[in-house]
Amino acid sequence: MASTAERDAMTRALSLAAGPGPDTHPNPRVGAVILDPTGSIVGSGVHRGPGHPHAEVVALSQAGSEARGATAVVTLEPCHHTGRTGPCTDALLAAGIERVIYAQSDPNPVATGGGMALAAAGVTVEADVRADEARAINPIWTFAMEHQRPLVTWKFASTVDGRVAAPDGSSRWISGPASRAEVHRLRRNADAVMVGTGTVVVDDAWLTARDESGALFDRQPLRVVVGHRAVPQTARVLDPAAETLVMRTHDVTDVLETLFARDVHHALLEGGPTLAAAFLEVDAIDRVIGYVGPRLLGDGPSLVGSWGVHTMGQARQLRFDEVGLVGDDICWTARLTAAAPPLIRKDL
Ligand SMILES: NC(=O)c1ccc[n+]([C@@H]2O[C@H](COP(=O)([O-])OP(=O)(O)OC[C@H]3O[C@@H](n4cnc5c(N)ncnc54)[C@H](OP(=O)(O)O)[C@@H]3O)[C@@H](O)[C@H]2O)c1
Repeated sequence: MASTAERDAMTRALSLAAGPGPDTHPNPRVGAVILDPTGSIVGSGVHRGPGHPHAEVVALSQAGSEARGATAVVTLEPCHHTGRTGPCTDALLAAGIERVIYAQSDPNPVATGGGMALAAAGVTVEADVRADEARAINPIWTFAMEHQRPLVTWKFASTVDGRVAAPDGSSRWISGPASRAEVHRLRRNADAVMVGTGTVVVDDAWLTARDESGALFDRQPLRVVVGHRAVPQTARVLDPAAETLVMRTHDVTDVLETLFARDVHHALLEGGPTLAAAFLEVDAIDRVIGYVGPRLLGDGPSLVGSWGVHTMGQARQLRFDEVGLVGDDICWTARLTAAAPPLIRKDL
């Protein structure tokens, strides 16, 4: 970036994008600032979610005729496709913007190409000037767009000896109330919660996100049940408390493609050992959050089933991010995919 005014404008655009505001899901948080040729801010804006104008358009309309010959400073590459709103590239060109600086290239293959289109139209373009900071504002969206599938966080509760249920199938409660409250907040922040039919049949899992009094949070994840068996009509997961998707398949890739097409960017895997193994087999777990209750069982299903490993060299490698106590339990978080944003428990 050539000038202090441009650097300051980008700092302003990044803080607008990161600042308080409505949930923009499934869209990213974006901020934009328009600088006139003297370096004065003549417009600024944020994107407020689907159906609302993009940040550049908000900033341009504030700038009005002062946008002619001006510089647009944006946290994300201006879009070049027609979605719910028209391409921002067209809006920038129509307003007479001569220079565009953006912090992060658009990782969405459908929306990318804005920088090239602007350059082809004679606009001076500076790309990726503060990519790491911009990615940190939309970490899950960026991951989902780059991988064209949801980020998958596997959550489990186990005993110290790695059992997720007793031999009779009972698993209430392996972890304590503080851990369970955290899991409800995890669910509220996720777009979907996935289990196999085994967990529905054995546990009659409800899979809703609730506060400590048991009341449903305003935001509920999509409940997803995977497996060939029919879900019993009386299962709690079929009640109207939240939407439920039953997928009669064993194809993990198909599940993730279907969820991504429904704008699920973060899916929480809460199934038992069978579904966890199926996801591990196709490398579809990005992060893990494990709650280890202060209990020993000595028998019962272990936290992950077999996915065909015979020798140490085939072990899946994790990178631990955090270990701590939650109530009487140990909680640890780890990543299996280097590109996955770490799960920061203090955000829960
Ligand atoms: N402590 C914990 O964190 C925790 C969490 C969840 C469950 N659990 C415990 O785990 C036990 C249930 O274990 P589970 O392994 O049966 O549960 P699960 O993994 O949730 O469900 C397994 C079922 O999912 C279906 N399935 C879907 N995709 C599959 C695939 N790719 N490959 C194989 N099967 C697939 C199969 O059923 P179909 O025959 O219908 O296809 C399979 O039997 C219960 O005792 C429960 O309490 C504990």
